[in-house]
Amino acid sequence: MTGPLIVLVGPMGVGKSTVGELLAERLGTTYRDTDADIVTSQDRTIADIFVDEGEAFFRELERAAVRGAIEEHDGVLALGGGAVLDGSTRALLSGLPVVYLSMEVEEAVKRTGLATARPLLAVNPRRQWRELMDARRGLYTEVARAVVATDDRTPEEVAQAILDVL
Ligand code: S3P
Repeated sequence: MTGPLIVLVGPMGVGKSTVGELLAERLGTTYRDTDADIVTSQDRTIADIFVDEGEAFFRELERAAVRGAIEEHDGVLALGGGAVLDGSTRALLSGLPVVYLSMEVEEAVKRTGLATARPLLAVNPRRQWRELMDARRGLYTEVARAVVATDDRTPEEVAQAILDVL
């Protein structure tokens, strides 16, 4: 087992799954995403896990999901937007071909909308986006081997930029 070919990190709504699926297709491999793994293993939505058990519990599930996916998967892997908050999860990423998909706050607001069902953006999306990006930008950069800005790019262009940079 060689480990994942590419690991995508970055905020929710940045296009990790769309770009990840495109990349997997182009590379003739498979796509996997830790959010989907958690939903399958828990048999409930991420929003329900947040409401029922809280964020700390979700991060524990996420750490185990990231560890499992890194061990088992040799295609394209996308992590949930907050996976980098956990120091042990960040340590798992060391040495892997991690790409940070970035976007500006205004782009994030535009893409996810002002009314959102995402648990971390429920109250004041613009302010929460700003705080979230300020808190996480450095963590994404810390784990990433390369940064690809997505603001003015189509998913195909982002996928190409990743292939060019790796
Ligand atoms: C989260 C991002 C989500 C999901 C959960 C928490 C975050 O993943 O893991 O809602 O903390 O940013 P996506 O980035 O795939 O939306």
